[in-house]
Amino acid sequence: MTAAAYHALRKSADRDPVSFWARQARELDWQAPFHATLQWKYPHARWFADGYLNASVNCVDRHVDSPRKHKAAIVWEGETFETRTITYAQLHDQVCRFANVLRNLGVKKGNVVGIYMGMVPEAAIAMLACARIGATHNVVFGGFSADALADRMSDSGAVVLVTQDVAYRRGKDVELKVTADKAAKRIPTLKHMVVFKRGTASVKMKAKRDLWWHDVMATASPQAKAAKLPAEHPLFILYTSGSTGKPKGILHTTGGYLTHVSYTTKLVFDMQDTDLFFCTADVGWITGHSYVVYGPLSLGATVMMYEGAPNHPQPDRFWDIISRHRVTILYTAPTAIRSFMRWGDEWPSKHDLSSLRLLGSVGEPINPEAWRWYHRVIGNKRCPVVDTWWQTETGGIMISAVPLEGEGKQSKGTLTASRQVPGAATLPLPGIQAAVVTRNGKKCKAGETGLLVIKHPWPGMLRTVYGDDARYKAAYWSEFPPENVPDGWYATGDGAKIDAEGNVWIIGRVDDVVNVSGHRLGTAEIESALVSHPRVAEAAVIARPDEIKGNALVAFVTLKMGKNATNLVKLKDDLREHVGREIGHIAKPDDVRFAEALPKTRSGKIMRRLLRELVKGGSGFGDITTLEDFSVLERLRSDDEV
Ligand code: WTA
Repeated sequence: MTAAAYHALRKSADRDPVSFWARQARELDWQAPFHATLQWKYPHARWFADGYLNASVNCVDRHVDSPRKHKAAIVWEGETFETRTITYAQLHDQVCRFANVLRNLGVKKGNVVGIYMGMVPEAAIAMLACARIGATHNVVFGGFSADALADRMSDSGAVVLVTQDVAYRRGKDVELKVTADKAAKRIPTLKHMVVFKRGTASVKMKAKRDLWWHDVMATASPQAKAAKLPAEHPLFILYTSGSTGKPKGILHTTGGYLTHVSYTTKLVFDMQDTDLFFCTADVGWITGHSYVVYGPLSLGATVMMYEGAPNHPQPDRFWDIISRHRVTILYTAPTAIRSFMRWGDEWPSKHDLSSLRLLGSVGEPINPEAWRWYHRVIGNKRCPVVDTWWQTETGGIMISAVPLEGEGKQSKGTLTASRQVPGAATLPLPGIQAAVVTRNGKKCKAGETGLLVIKHPWPGMLRTVYGDDARYKAAYWSEFPPENVPDGWYATGDGAKIDAEGNVWIIGRVDDVVNVSGHRLGTAEIESALVSHPRVAEAAVIARPDEIKGNALVAFVTLKMGKNATNLVKLKDDLREHVGREIGHIAKPDDVRFAEALPKTRSGKIMRRLLRELVKGGSGFGDITTLEDFSVLERLRSDDEV
């Protein structure tokens, strides 16, 4: 897009956001056109509601009916270096077959299908097959434990679970089927498991319940009629952490979500038919849903999908992939970028990265130093960096710079960016009305920190929290209700500031959600995992800044009485492992500290703010007038003593 076209786009979106989004939606293939663009009744939005479409038709069929038929949709590389290329025609065959498999298993429109897999093309195929028949998928990241999987499956009432025998990660087998079996005991609605075979070792298959992917696919028909679905038909549920214990099932629907991810993939990544787009996120997270699967495939783009770890077998795996496959766009997380910095410039410098033309960042604030390193070492100062702010709830990118075609003296094909401000997500995209306000809803002055809100509904927004609409309202819409502000505003949970040029700087979460290595975790979830250990009486989990991971988790734990004479070093390890088993390895606290008591307000609320200041080493504890027992603090300061 040229700079002039970008400014014109902004103008038209500002003038009339609803018609603007209708135009974006019409880029999709509709089975029946919509007439009603937006129906907003606080706090619920319906987009394009009288139209019909199918996401799998948009991501697959419409490219098969075009010159892209034999173009690669997915270029996959296993951690073990084998590669597979799946064209749109082949993707169509596979998606149809799996749609028939699901139908043959009795899956109906509106049923929920769980997907618990690693980064293999079959994960995307399973998602698209669900979309084809109108089943709602619920993907759970392969690093989650049996309990976490069971919670998410039973909360959503999943009838089928698609998994694999093992996934490969850092040279090891991750035993997904074993974990799925454990979880299955606690999923009363589950009828079948379909198991994709990735590894070589044998796994136990339960007669009648479990089926091998290759068996059922071989006999399934490669033609499957796509269901005609209303735009508001639920496309997927994705669980994410909130500030209370239970994760929230974020519900996204078909027409609005697809419009948003398709529009943003085109705009923010300047997606062309000649591109090979490498989004390194796992399909278990929203970034994998929106920018490995639905966004790029809706445009007929080619995605690079990599199965394994960035440092396997060596710290240059990404650079090796980029140079061998000639990747043109890289989209990754600041935590990865900081690790690459630490591993040293010699790793990227061994490889020819000249195919890259654009770099993206997502998941947490990128510090200016990491931004500059990414720009200089990976992008060779040629590639614009787009720092994209968004959330599981927003569906797609909301705030980001936009790459612009070189004009004037620049050679053809060179990109610049609408803004390059290391550390800032820059401007809300055309169509998105973001603002930073005080708790009272007053616009913050330039440079003043406040709460990031979205003032107008957008198509990709979540529709509700699955099975808990009251929580949806309370979590996102209660801070700025229509009684106080026009039409009600969406509260993002992030603190931010806007500078004099209008650039948005994200400060981070203002609630009890923590971003560790770009993974979103609720401290309450980890606390409840800790107190489920027989030795633990109480726990408070807080974040401390960490150079690589963004945040590290520190758990303050009090033990049950009468059991003080144990080996605390071992107990620390036990507790970390316990959290790993309860939630998954990503949630293990980096540091466990034992205490006699935790600082509390008189009403019994743990004062996490004090604990945060304590681990930062600050002595200014702010306002502690509500603290119940001052001496607790002194004792906590002396770290490990019990
Ligand atoms: C944070 C990931 C700063 C933010 C897509 C948000 C960011 C949370 C950025 C959502 C960014 C995401 N700059 N912070 N570019 N992108 N965040 O749901 O705190 O896993 O609220 O979605 O990540 O995390 P989630």
